[in-house]
Amino acid sequence: MSKSRITEFARSSRDVKRVEQPYGGYYRQAQVPLDEKLIRVGRGTPGGEYLRRSWQPVCLSSELGELPLTVDMLGEKLVLFRTQQGDIGLLDKHCSHRGASLEYGLPTDVGIQCCYHGWHFACDGRILDTPNDPNSSLKKRMCHPAYPVHEYQGIIFTWMGPPEEKTDFVILDSYHQPNTKMVPFSLPFPCNWVQLLDNTQDPTHSCFLHTRVSGAQFSESWGELPELDYLETPIGMINVNVRRWKDKLWVRTTDVILPNLNQTGALWLSAEDEETFLGAALTRWMRPVDDSHTQMIGWRYLNDELDREKNGDAAQIGVGKIDFIGQTEDERPYAERQQVPGDYEAIAGQGDIAESARWNQNHGDRGVVMMRRLITENIAALEDGGDYKTTERADRVDGSVATYTRDSVMAIPQRSEDESELRQTFGRELSTLVFEAAKQSPTQARDFFAAAMKRFIEPYR
Ligand code: FES
Ligand SMILES: [Fe+2]
Repeated sequence: MSKSRITEFARSSRDVKRVEQPYGGYYRQAQVPLDEKLIRVGRGTPGGEYLRRSWQPVCLSSELGELPLTVDMLGEKLVLFRTQQGDIGLLDKHCSHRGASLEYGLPTDVGIQCCYHGWHFACDGRILDTPNDPNSSLKKRMCHPAYPVHEYQGIIFTWMGPPEEKTDFVILDSYHQPNTKMVPFSLPFPCNWVQLLDNTQDPTHSCFLHTRVSGAQFSESWGELPELDYLETPIGMINVNVRRWKDKLWVRTTDVILPNLNQTGALWLSAEDEETFLGAALTRWMRPVDDSHTQMIGWRYLNDELDREKNGDAAQIGVGKIDFIGQTEDERPYAERQQVPGDYEAIAGQGDIAESARWNQNHGDRGVVMMRRLITENIAALEDGGDYKTTERADRVDGSVATYTRDSVMAIPQRSEDESELRQTFGRELSTLVFEAAKQSPTQARDFFAAAMKRFIEPYR
């Protein structure tokens, strides 16, 4: 074949977005553009700058022992250590002198000493000593790159944005659920962070991946295709799912909290019994390691209400593990993961950086579309010097930020075969009540919601 003929074929295969004929694999587009602003996480990239305007989890407290720990996050190579006095430092991995890795450094009373020539750094990056040249004035003139940390409920967080923009660490209302154990966990995913967040605004996958295709991984009720709505909240967005399960209507809302958090409600909720205003069973950050790796770090909440069937298990939650199926590569043999795939297989299987330009999205994907648009708009607002949303910038009620992840199950008789309208009404009304409850003091939100819900459902019973 002549060279010009080959070029012609290559051009035609590049120009075709979709394969439109049987056995047309040859015409698959060779390359597609990536959504650079959304997926790049390094310093100076639009998405990376946005993520740096929010406290990000570094690792679990339990991962940091007496020896320094290397941490890759947001495309930067860092070293985390605890001084002998118990303070935590997070420094650029490479020594400011000649680049030795501080993972081989020696934690001291107040900082860390590099193994190579003994330079001594404080947790905030100040250079305390340069013993290979004690009279050098360098230590007065410069600091080693360092980030501030905050330890909360078994997780170490950092602020990697401009220090002058640093805010207080944010407390979410979910952290105050009564009689609840907060158990931290950390799970690696070999892919870009946005794919993990996509999954949380894609409620139809629960019917298929978690129920109809792989068998019921949580509860049979998840297999019902819900009536869906998507709403912007003051901190991000929610999806609203309304399912009919026997004589009950189940309304579930799931948060994406900007820039990179999700909350998910009760995991094994069967919708067999009535429930009112259940809270989050998970708060989790999709914290980038780099453009193509993500560490999901957060807490599982364990209480009797969220887990009536007692499937939750604190012993199975921690570094590289969690107490429900399909979240890691290591938990099961490959053949089993092929036969009964979970979220890990679905998300990581999209590729290390999913080529979203190849996707053919339909009405069932509008949560993913809306979420990507929301993040992109906020990245653009930051770039333009405008107003952008993060958890840090949200209003507080009694010191915490209200979130919108809730489950309620009500006994409402089915009146017709097609009750799509009824489910829409319930979704709309109960999500309005969730928004109103979020304005109340966290201690009163539930009573407020319960009273309002009772008034609303009365006529339908
Ligand atoms: S490279 Fe660290 S002190 Fe020389
Ligand atoms: Fe899932």
